[in-house]
Amino acid sequence: MSALFEPLKLKGVTLRNRIAVPPMCQYTAQDGLINDWHRVHLAGLARGGAGLVIVEATAVSPQGRITPGCAGLWTDEQAQAFVPVVHAIKAAGAVPGIQIGHAGRKASANLPWEGDDHMPEGDARGWPTIAPSAIAYGAHLPKVPRAMSVEDIVRVRADFVAAARRARDAGFQWLELHFAHGYLGQSFFSVHSNQRDDRYGGSLENRSRFLLETLSAVREVWPEQLPLTARFGVIEYDGRDEETLAESIELAKGFKQRGLDLLNVSVGFSTPTATIPWAPAFLAPIAERVRREANIPVASAWGIDTPELAQRVVQDGQLDLVMVGRAHLADPHWPYKAARALGVERASWTLPAPYAHWLERYKVA
Ligand SMILES: Cc1cc2nc3c(=O)[nH]c(=O)nc-3n(C[C@H](O)[C@H](O)[C@H](O)COP(=O)(O)O)c2cc1C
Repeated sequence: MSALFEPLKLKGVTLRNRIAVPPMCQYTAQDGLINDWHRVHLAGLARGGAGLVIVEATAVSPQGRITPGCAGLWTDEQAQAFVPVVHAIKAAGAVPGIQIGHAGRKASANLPWEGDDHMPEGDARGWPTIAPSAIAYGAHLPKVPRAMSVEDIVRVRADFVAAARRARDAGFQWLELHFAHGYLGQSFFSVHSNQRDDRYGGSLENRSRFLLETLSAVREVWPEQLPLTARFGVIEYDGRDEETLAESIELAKGFKQRGLDLLNVSVGFSTPTATIPWAPAFLAPIAERVRREANIPVASAWGIDTPELAQRVVQDGQLDLVMVGRAHLADPHWPYKAARALGVERASWTLPAPYAHWLERYKVA
């Protein structure tokens, strides 16, 4: 049996294999409301054979969107629009997941194909941003955020809880808190963005507080038998990596204690001056260390785009779940083809009966 195609059971949910579609923004929502494109995109990916399909970063409030085209979950109407997505993903045999987040100081940006930068001051499509401290990210994101008051922190935490509740009611079976990539959660943890002198800044304990409190609050509304996960950047590649990694592992232990079921290990992206060593599966050994030292199941992405590499990182015990992003956009049937490449023919999900019958009959390869 291929390690990549072993089912993964987490709480009351079983993924048919170890391949996940990671969240990938489509930037085409209107006022946070998803549309037919999102439904086609997500159903098509589920049909391709992945065990898990995670809906793109979905904002917990209008201010928390990365761009004006980002999906949202701050109204019941937005939640309702996800119901057919949930049904379609399930009908295709995958587990429906969603990532909820707040973009913090990286919010109010143009769409990637319109520059990927902050909208200029005075642009009517833009909005004021918030963050732990009034420090801009810099480079293409120069907007200075307002430092959050404790009331803001309480409000955003409540927004996460309300969005989690809506995700639950829409039928999602896997929740990922977006605490990565320099957005709000990550920016509380990172010293690049958090210079607070209250109980939400300074020590590791204080910089972890927003994330741990938010996780605990969400855990109360997210069903116990469904996986609650987070994406977090455990390393910045900013020259102080051993320290950041050690702190991140402590945070991961705290996550686990408060009921996190799996950590999606990523990069922090908290500073434009980072030097990231891009290479195939470069994060897998880092994820393996987090898995071992924090004793928590891990997923990871970044450059795992061949069946052999995906199989290896699972077989070697580096990852429990492989996130295949851009390769899925290039070929929505990536898992189906990976199964064939690895000799996993005719697994029940690779060819549903209505296809298998005709392909057999007409000897289509
Ligand atoms: C179009 C696009 C949109 C993305 N949107 C998100 C997102 O909403 N949330 C997130 O955590 N990562 C996002 N990412 C990062 C992916 O989840 C993934 O980590 C990245 O593409 C690296 O994996 P890959 O090498 O398999 O593509 C996005 C990536 C792409 C290409």
